[in-house]
Amino acid sequence: MTTKQINKYIENIIDPSRNQSLGALQAIKHLGIDPEKNTVILLIEVGKKNPDVTNQLTRELAKIVKIDLGFAGLVVDYEQSRPEHLGKKVKILGIASGKGGVGKSTVTANLAYALTRLGKKVGILDADIYGANMPKILDCENRILESNADGKVTPITVDGIEMVSTEYMVDTDRALLWRGPMLGKVLKIFFDDTLWSPELEYLLVDLPPGTGDVMMDLRQFVADIKLLLVTTPHPSASHIAIKAGFAAKSLQQELLGVIENMSWLEIDNHRHKVFGEGGGEAVSEKLLVPLLGQIPLGQPTGENPSIFSETDKIGIIYLSLAKTIMRLVENA
Ligand SMILES: Nc1ncnc2c1ncn2[C@@H]1O[C@H](COP(=O)(O)OP(=O)(O)OP(=O)(O)O)[C@@H](O)[C@H]1O
Ligand SMILES: [Mg+2]
Repeated sequence: MTTKQINKYIENIIDPSRNQSLGALQAIKHLGIDPEKNTVILLIEVGKKNPDVTNQLTRELAKIVKIDLGFAGLVVDYEQSRPEHLGKKVKILGIASGKGGVGKSTVTANLAYALTRLGKKVGILDADIYGANMPKILDCENRILESNADGKVTPITVDGIEMVSTEYMVDTDRALLWRGPMLGKVLKIFFDDTLWSPELEYLLVDLPPGTGDVMMDLRQFVADIKLLLVTTPHPSASHIAIKAGFAAKSLQQELLGVIENMSWLEIDNHRHKVFGEGGGEAVSEKLLVPLLGQIPLGQPTGENPSIFSETDKIGIIYLSLAKTIMRLVENA
Protein backbone atom coordinates (compact mmCIF):
# COMPACT_ATOMS: atom_id res chain seq x y z
CA MET A 1 0.00 0.00 0.00
CA THR A 2 1.35 3.45 -0.96
CA THR A 3 1.06 6.72 0.97
CA LYS A 4 -1.14 8.03 -1.86
CA GLN A 5 -3.61 5.23 -1.27
CA ILE A 6 -3.61 5.79 2.50
CA ASN A 7 -4.20 9.48 1.86
CA LYS A 8 -7.36 8.61 -0.10
CA TYR A 9 -8.72 6.70 2.90
CA ILE A 10 -8.04 9.35 5.53
CA GLU A 11 -8.67 12.58 3.63
CA ASN A 12 -12.40 12.43 4.27
CA ILE A 13 -12.04 12.45 8.05
CA ILE A 14 -13.48 15.66 9.50
CA ASP A 15 -11.44 17.95 11.76
CA PRO A 16 -14.09 18.53 14.47
CA SER A 17 -12.61 21.93 15.33
CA ARG A 18 -13.16 23.21 11.79
CA ASN A 19 -15.96 20.96 10.47
CA GLN A 20 -14.15 20.32 7.23
CA SER A 21 -12.33 17.29 5.90
CA LEU A 22 -8.58 16.89 6.32
CA GLY A 23 -8.32 16.78 2.55
CA ALA A 24 -10.22 20.03 1.97
CA LEU A 25 -8.18 21.73 4.70
CA GLN A 26 -4.88 20.37 3.30
CA ALA A 27 -4.29 19.33 6.89
CA ILE A 28 -2.26 16.19 6.22
CA LYS A 29 1.20 17.72 6.59
CA HIS A 30 3.15 14.48 6.55
CA LEU A 31 2.24 10.91 5.68
CA GLY A 32 4.89 8.22 5.83
CA ILE A 33 5.21 4.48 6.30
CA ASP A 34 7.79 2.76 8.50
CA PRO A 35 8.01 -0.57 6.64
CA GLU A 36 9.99 -2.32 9.38
CA LYS A 37 7.37 -1.63 12.01
CA ASN A 38 4.48 -1.71 9.51
CA THR A 39 3.46 1.63 10.98
CA VAL A 40 1.87 4.74 9.47
CA ILE A 41 3.35 8.08 10.59
CA LEU A 42 1.21 11.19 10.32
CA LEU A 43 1.44 14.89 11.05
CA ILE A 44 -1.99 16.52 11.03
CA GLU A 45 -2.82 20.22 11.33
CA VAL A 46 -5.87 20.92 13.49
CA GLY A 47 -7.97 24.04 14.05
CA LYS A 48 -7.70 23.60 17.81
CA LYS A 49 -5.06 21.41 19.37
CA ASN A 50 -6.98 20.19 22.42
CA PRO A 51 -7.63 16.64 23.67
CA ASP A 52 -11.29 16.60 22.53
CA VAL A 53 -10.21 17.24 18.97
CA THR A 54 -7.03 15.16 18.83
CA ASN A 55 -8.49 12.14 20.67
CA GLN A 56 -11.44 11.98 18.28
CA LEU A 57 -9.16 12.26 15.25
CA THR A 58 -6.74 9.64 16.59
CA ARG A 59 -9.65 7.21 17.13
CA GLU A 60 -10.89 7.68 13.57
CA LEU A 61 -7.41 7.50 12.06
CA ALA A 62 -6.55 4.35 14.05
CA LYS A 63 -9.76 2.67 12.89
CA ILE A 64 -8.89 3.25 9.23
CA VAL A 65 -5.14 2.64 9.45
CA LYS A 66 -5.16 -0.38 11.76
CA ILE A 67 -8.54 -2.06 11.27
CA ASP A 68 -9.47 -1.22 7.67
CA LEU A 69 -5.96 -1.12 6.17
CA GLY A 70 -4.29 -3.65 8.45
CA PHE A 71 -1.22 -1.73 9.59
CA ALA A 72 0.33 -2.78 12.91
CA GLY A 73 0.77 0.73 14.24
CA LEU A 74 -0.04 4.41 13.91
CA VAL A 75 2.07 7.33 15.14
CA VAL A 76 0.27 10.64 14.82
CA ASP A 77 1.37 14.10 15.84
CA TYR A 78 -0.77 17.23 15.70
CA GLU A 79 0.09 20.84 15.08
CA GLN A 80 -2.00 23.93 15.64
CA SER A 81 -3.14 25.74 12.48
CA ARG A 82 -2.84 29.49 12.03
CA PRO A 83 -5.86 31.57 13.05
CA GLU A 84 -8.11 32.35 10.08
CA HIS A 85 -7.22 36.04 9.88
CA LEU A 86 -3.48 35.61 10.19
CA GLY A 87 -2.04 34.48 6.89
CA LYS A 88 0.72 31.88 6.76
CA LYS A 89 3.31 34.46 5.75
CA VAL A 90 2.91 36.50 8.95
CA LYS A 91 5.98 36.12 11.16
CA ILE A 92 4.88 36.08 14.78
CA LEU A 93 7.49 37.27 17.25
CA GLY A 94 6.94 37.25 21.02
CA ILE A 95 8.91 39.79 23.05
CA ALA A 96 9.61 38.27 26.46
CA SER A 97 11.96 39.00 29.34
CA GLY A 98 11.26 37.18 32.54
CA LYS A 99 11.96 40.30 34.60
CA GLY A 100 9.61 43.28 34.42
CA GLY A 101 10.57 46.80 33.46
CA VAL A 102 13.54 45.93 31.24
CA GLY A 103 11.99 47.59 28.19
CA LYS A 104 9.94 44.92 26.41
CA SER A 105 7.16 47.28 25.44
CA THR A 106 9.54 50.06 24.40
CA VAL A 107 11.55 47.59 22.31
CA THR A 108 8.36 46.11 20.79
CA ALA A 109 7.07 49.52 19.72
CA ASN A 110 10.39 50.76 18.35
CA LEU A 111 10.99 47.52 16.53
CA ALA A 112 7.53 47.89 14.97
CA TYR A 113 8.47 51.38 13.75
CA ALA A 114 11.84 50.19 12.46
CA LEU A 115 10.27 47.30 10.53
CA THR A 116 7.64 49.67 9.14
CA ARG A 117 10.38 52.09 8.03
CA LEU A 118 11.98 49.15 6.24
CA GLY A 119 8.77 48.62 4.28
CA LYS A 120 7.09 45.90 6.34
CA LYS A 121 3.44 45.80 7.39
CA VAL A 122 3.48 45.31 11.13
CA GLY A 123 0.98 44.57 13.88
CA ILE A 124 1.41 44.69 17.66
CA LEU A 125 -0.54 42.50 20.05
CA ASP A 126 -0.23 43.84 23.59
CA ALA A 127 -0.73 40.71 25.67
CA ASP A 128 0.33 42.18 28.99
CA ILE A 129 -2.81 41.69 31.06
CA TYR A 130 -1.93 43.68 34.15
CA GLY A 131 0.53 46.18 32.76
CA ALA A 132 -0.71 46.87 29.22
CA ASN A 133 0.75 50.17 28.08
CA MET A 134 1.00 49.96 24.29
CA PRO A 135 -1.82 52.53 23.81
CA LYS A 136 0.19 54.95 25.98
CA ILE A 137 3.44 54.22 24.14
CA LEU A 138 1.80 54.68 20.71
CA ASP A 139 -0.16 57.68 22.00
CA CYS A 140 -3.61 56.35 21.15
CA GLU A 141 -5.17 55.79 24.56
CA ASN A 142 -8.36 57.65 23.73
CA ARG A 143 -9.30 55.32 20.87
CA ILE A 144 -11.64 52.33 21.13
CA LEU A 145 -11.47 48.93 19.55
CA GLU A 146 -14.46 48.64 17.24
CA SER A 147 -16.16 45.35 16.56
CA ASN A 148 -18.65 44.57 13.78
CA ALA A 149 -21.96 42.68 13.96
CA ASP A 150 -20.11 39.34 13.85
CA GLY A 151 -18.01 40.35 16.83
CA LYS A 152 -14.89 40.79 14.68
CA VAL A 153 -12.51 43.42 16.01
CA THR A 154 -10.70 45.97 13.84
CA PRO A 155 -7.26 46.85 15.19
CA ILE A 156 -6.27 50.46 15.91
CA THR A 157 -3.85 51.84 13.31
CA VAL A 158 -1.05 54.27 14.24
CA ASP A 159 1.47 55.35 11.59
CA GLY A 160 0.57 52.27 9.56
CA ILE A 161 1.10 49.92 12.53
CA GLU A 162 -1.92 47.86 13.57
CA MET A 163 -2.39 47.31 17.28
CA VAL A 164 -4.69 45.63 19.76
CA SER A 165 -4.22 45.87 23.49
CA THR A 166 -5.72 44.28 26.57
CA GLU A 167 -6.01 47.82 27.86
CA TYR A 168 -8.93 48.43 25.52
CA MET A 169 -10.73 45.37 26.84
CA VAL A 170 -10.77 46.33 30.50
CA ASP A 171 -13.24 49.17 30.36
CA THR A 172 -15.55 47.59 27.84
CA ASP A 173 -16.01 44.35 29.72
CA ARG A 174 -14.31 44.55 33.06
CA ALA A 175 -16.69 42.11 34.76
CA LEU A 176 -16.20 39.43 32.15
CA LEU A 177 -12.50 39.79 31.72
CA TRP A 178 -11.07 40.34 35.15
CA ARG A 179 -11.86 36.90 36.41
CA GLY A 180 -11.18 33.33 35.51
CA PRO A 181 -9.01 32.37 32.54
CA MET A 182 -9.00 35.94 31.31
CA LEU A 183 -5.90 35.82 29.21
CA GLY A 184 -7.22 32.92 27.13
CA LYS A 185 -10.41 34.84 26.37
CA VAL A 186 -8.56 37.98 25.36
CA LEU A 187 -6.07 36.05 23.26
CA LYS A 188 -8.95 34.31 21.51
CA ILE A 189 -10.36 37.68 20.48
CA PHE A 190 -6.95 38.98 19.38
CA PHE A 191 -5.95 35.90 17.40
CA ASP A 192 -9.22 34.42 16.17
CA ASP A 193 -11.57 37.40 15.98
CA THR A 194 -9.38 40.32 14.95
CA LEU A 195 -9.40 41.47 11.34
CA TRP A 196 -5.67 41.95 10.86
CA SER A 197 -4.70 43.37 7.51
CA PRO A 198 -4.24 40.66 4.86
CA GLU A 199 -0.98 42.48 4.07
CA LEU A 200 0.40 41.90 7.58
CA GLU A 201 3.97 40.55 7.55
CA TYR A 202 5.04 40.80 11.19
CA LEU A 203 3.00 40.45 14.36
CA LEU A 204 4.91 41.47 17.48
CA VAL A 205 3.44 40.13 20.71
CA ASP A 206 4.39 42.18 23.77
CA LEU A 207 4.37 39.63 26.58
CA PRO A 208 3.95 40.25 30.27
CA PRO A 209 6.91 39.56 32.56
CA GLY A 210 7.07 35.95 33.69
CA THR A 211 8.64 32.69 32.77
CA GLY A 212 6.32 30.67 30.67
CA ASP A 213 2.69 30.54 31.78
CA VAL A 214 1.58 32.98 29.08
CA MET A 215 3.46 30.96 26.49
CA MET A 216 1.27 27.98 27.34
CA ASP A 217 -1.82 30.07 26.59
CA LEU A 218 -0.31 31.53 23.43
CA ARG A 219 0.51 28.13 22.00
CA GLN A 220 -3.16 27.27 21.79
CA PHE A 221 -3.47 29.97 19.17
CA VAL A 222 -0.12 30.03 17.39
CA ALA A 223 2.33 27.19 17.62
CA ASP A 224 5.09 28.82 15.62
CA ILE A 225 5.68 31.99 17.60
CA LYS A 226 9.39 32.82 17.84
CA LEU A 227 10.73 34.53 20.94
CA LEU A 228 12.98 37.53 21.42
CA LEU A 229 14.33 37.81 24.96
CA VAL A 230 14.98 41.28 26.36
CA THR A 231 17.38 41.78 29.24
CA THR A 232 19.41 44.60 30.74
CA PRO A 233 23.18 44.24 31.28
CA HIS A 234 22.60 43.55 34.98
CA PRO A 235 22.72 39.97 36.33
CA SER A 236 19.42 40.49 38.18
CA ALA A 237 17.70 40.77 34.79
CA SER A 238 19.78 38.27 32.82
CA HIS A 239 19.33 35.62 35.52
CA ILE A 240 15.55 35.70 35.09
CA ALA A 241 15.75 36.02 31.30
CA ILE A 242 17.77 32.79 31.29
CA LYS A 243 15.05 31.11 33.36
CA ALA A 244 12.38 32.37 30.97
CA GLY A 245 14.47 31.11 28.05
CA PHE A 246 14.80 27.63 29.52
CA ALA A 247 11.07 27.56 30.28
CA ALA A 248 10.39 28.44 26.64
CA LYS A 249 12.84 25.81 25.44
CA SER A 250 11.16 23.16 27.54
CA LEU A 251 7.94 24.04 25.70
CA GLN A 252 9.81 23.56 22.41
CA GLN A 253 9.40 27.25 21.71
CA GLU A 254 11.90 28.66 19.24
CA LEU A 255 14.19 31.34 20.69
CA LEU A 256 15.32 33.77 18.02
CA GLY A 257 17.83 35.70 20.08
CA VAL A 258 18.56 38.21 22.82
CA ILE A 259 18.24 41.99 22.86
CA GLU A 260 20.15 43.84 25.56
CA ASN A 261 18.45 47.10 26.51
CA MET A 262 19.79 49.99 28.62
CA SER A 263 23.29 48.79 27.72
CA TRP A 264 25.09 52.07 28.38
CA LEU A 265 24.64 55.81 28.60
CA GLU A 266 26.77 57.72 26.15
CA ILE A 267 28.13 61.07 27.33
CA ASP A 268 30.80 62.91 25.32
CA ASN A 269 31.60 59.79 23.31
CA HIS A 270 32.13 57.79 26.47
CA ARG A 271 29.94 54.81 27.27
CA HIS A 272 28.96 54.70 30.94
CA LYS A 273 27.85 51.18 31.91
CA VAL A 274 25.33 52.39 34.48
CA PHE A 275 23.59 49.01 34.74
CA GLY A 276 26.78 46.96 34.63
CA GLU A 277 27.63 44.78 31.65
CA GLY A 278 27.46 41.29 30.26
CA GLY A 279 23.74 40.51 30.74
CA GLY A 280 22.97 40.09 27.06
CA GLU A 281 26.04 37.97 26.49
CA ALA A 282 25.25 35.78 29.48
CA VAL A 283 21.74 35.04 28.22
CA SER A 284 23.03 34.40 24.72
CA GLU A 285 25.72 32.00 25.91
CA LYS A 286 23.53 30.07 28.33
CA LEU A 287 20.69 29.60 25.86
CA LEU A 288 22.89 29.20 22.77
CA VAL A 289 21.12 31.93 20.82
CA PRO A 290 22.63 35.06 19.24
CA LEU A 291 22.83 38.46 20.92
CA LEU A 292 20.98 40.42 18.23
CA GLY A 293 21.65 43.94 19.43
CA GLN A 294 22.39 46.33 22.27
CA ILE A 295 20.31 49.43 22.85
CA PRO A 296 21.76 52.25 24.94
CA LEU A 297 19.89 54.43 27.40
CA GLY A 298 18.44 57.56 25.88
CA GLN A 299 15.37 59.62 25.14
CA PRO A 300 13.79 60.23 21.73
CA THR A 301 14.07 63.70 20.24
CA GLY A 302 10.67 63.67 18.54
CA GLU A 303 7.19 64.38 19.88
CA ASN A 304 6.48 60.89 21.15
CA PRO A 305 8.56 60.34 24.29
CA SER A 306 8.81 56.58 23.65
CA ILE A 307 9.47 56.33 19.91
CA PHE A 308 12.87 57.09 18.42
CA SER A 309 12.91 58.80 15.04
CA GLU A 310 14.78 57.45 12.03
CA THR A 311 17.57 59.95 12.58
CA ASP A 312 17.99 59.49 16.35
CA LYS A 313 21.12 57.52 17.12
CA ILE A 314 19.00 54.92 18.90
CA GLY A 315 16.48 54.97 16.02
CA ILE A 316 19.34 53.92 13.72
CA ILE A 317 20.27 51.12 16.14
CA TYR A 318 16.65 49.89 15.98
CA LEU A 319 16.81 49.90 12.16
CA SER A 320 19.88 47.72 12.28
CA LEU A 321 18.26 45.41 14.85
CA ALA A 322 15.18 45.12 12.63
CA LYS A 323 17.37 44.22 9.65
CA THR A 324 19.12 41.52 11.68
CA ILE A 325 15.76 40.07 12.73
CA MET A 326 14.41 40.20 9.16
CA ARG A 327 17.46 38.32 7.91
CA LEU A 328 16.99 35.69 10.60
CA VAL A 329 13.30 35.03 10.12
CA GLU A 330 12.99 35.60 6.39
CA ASN A 331 15.91 33.38 5.42
CA ALA A 332 14.86 30.64 7.81
N1 LIG B 1 16.82 52.31 26.30
C1 LIG B 1 16.12 53.00 27.18
N2 LIG B 1 16.53 54.22 27.60
C2 LIG B 1 15.81 54.93 28.50
N3 LIG B 1 14.65 54.53 29.04
C3 LIG B 1 14.18 53.32 28.64
C4 LIG B 1 14.86 52.50 27.70
N4 LIG B 1 14.14 51.38 27.50
C5 LIG B 1 13.05 51.49 28.29
N5 LIG B 1 13.06 52.64 28.98
C6 LIG B 1 12.08 53.11 29.95
O1 LIG B 1 12.02 52.14 30.98
C7 LIG B 1 10.68 52.00 31.47
C8 LIG B 1 10.24 50.53 31.35
O2 LIG B 1 10.15 50.23 29.96
P1 LIG B 1 9.01 49.31 29.39
O3 LIG B 1 7.69 49.71 29.90
O4 LIG B 1 9.21 49.25 27.92
O5 LIG B 1 9.45 47.92 30.07
P2 LIG B 1 8.66 46.54 30.10
O6 LIG B 1 9.70 45.48 30.15
O7 LIG B 1 7.66 46.49 29.03
O8 LIG B 1 7.92 46.65 31.51
P3 LIG B 1 6.75 45.68 32.06
O9 LIG B 1 7.47 44.48 32.56
O10 LIG B 1 6.16 46.52 33.15
O11 LIG B 1 5.84 45.41 30.94
C9 LIG B 1 9.83 52.95 30.65
O12 LIG B 1 9.69 54.14 31.37
C10 LIG B 1 10.67 53.19 29.40
O13 LIG B 1 10.43 54.44 28.82
MG1 LIG C 1 5.61 46.14 29.11
